[in-house]
Amino acid sequence: MVNDIVTDHDLSGANTLGLPCIAERYVAVTQAARLPALLAMAKARGWLITVLGGGSNVILPPRLEGLVIQPMFRRFQLEELGREEVTVLVEAGLPWHELVMATVTRGLWGIENLALIPGSCGAAPIQNIGAYGVELADVLESVEIMHLDTGLHETLSRDDCELAYRDSIFKRSLENRVLITRLTLRLSRRPCPRLAYGDLVKRLGEAPTALEVAQAVSQVRREKLPDPTVLGNAGSFFKNPLVSAGKARALLEAHSTMPHFPQPDGSVKLAAGWLIDRCGLKGYRQGAFGVHDRQALVMVHHGGGDARGLLEFAAEVAGRVETHFGIHLEREPRLIGATG
Ligand code: FAD
Ligand code: EPU
Repeated sequence: MVNDIVTDHDLSGANTLGLPCIAERYVAVTQAARLPALLAMAKARGWLITVLGGGSNVILPPRLEGLVIQPMFRRFQLEELGREEVTVLVEAGLPWHELVMATVTRGLWGIENLALIPGSCGAAPIQNIGAYGVELADVLESVEIMHLDTGLHETLSRDDCELAYRDSIFKRSLENRVLITRLTLRLSRRPCPRLAYGDLVKRLGEAPTALEVAQAVSQVRREKLPDPTVLGNAGSFFKNPLVSAGKARALLEAHSTMPHFPQPDGSVKLAAGWLIDRCGLKGYRQGAFGVHDRQALVMVHHGGGDARGLLEFAAEVAGRVETHFGIHLEREPRLIGATG
């Protein structure tokens, strides 16, 4: 049981920012059934637990104390529900994009716009992953979790998960308290292309297949976003800010081309990438870190930096936006442990 727990395990290659990190203890878990005993042992020994998925939305410290658990169980199963609806059960360790490809190649609709989002299925509910006009909340039925302190299993409905824009209960009252073991999604055989975002319609024409939508989204993403295997990054570093209608109006008087998206509750979502870009920071670099030169919402790591350096760099970028526009930007990637 203990012998596959590795000590002083190097996680530098296991986070897409490429930040240096040594985990005091690390274990890759290939079977969910093993978790209760592992959690009991960690509790008995007083180890702090960190759950790590694909490492694509974390800022890791140089040294991570306790035990890092990486779920690697990755089975998925389809259950037909009548002629059109299909239930998909997927374990935490399957890479999200593999799930997308497995469903679109079977002609299933629902997550094709979420193609090429890095990371694991288990992490998808944490920030309610979203892209190109679709978010996980649109298809999620339920989430199975295991409580880290007791090993007890529980199923949460979609409503229990309190999903919102880049937010969920897993970032609030359940933060660092549970391990997501399995998701249930509801997909459909009925074609329902959602092509309103950007130039997807222009790229795809009238009646694309789900596979074609996933391929077009992947193409757009490759054009805009840096490939983490080439240049360290965690995707968007800040959330798009929500401001009052009055604040948006005032900004629009000064900047008539500013992208803005009125929300059902009357607030207005702005594009953080546009705000950073307008501060003249696209391509800006300071030592190991920089603002990506094609998508200013992405902070990139050129190598040689650490978590603290990244946070300082990001604070400078956010500070410039605050000074220029009076808007506070909130970080999106999760800060793990102490940053040294
Ligand atoms: P990790 O980074 O490993 O972990 C993230 C958080 O989830 C941590 O707090 C971790 O403790 C927790 N966690 C992970 N797995 C579990 C689990 N099984 N149980 C409990 N807690 C867990 N996100 C979007 O929403 N839309 C995008 O378009 C998008 N594009 C991106 C593009 C790039 C190039 C990159 C690098 C990132 C992008 N992201 C995007 C962010 C990222 O892909 C998502 O947040 C993804 O869901 C993170 O998955 P992960 O497995 O890598 O999680
Ligand atoms: N823009 C600029 N300059 C830039 C970047 C963006 O002017 O440098 C403008 C664009 O022209 C566009 C607007 O800002 O008018 C929005 O840009 P984009 O469509 O690229 O999307 P985004 O709001 O920057 C969000 C998500 C992405 C997701 C895309 C596509 C957040 C924080 N980010 O980015 O998610 O892939 O939409 O749906 O909501 C992630 O979370 O890591 C991520 C990449």
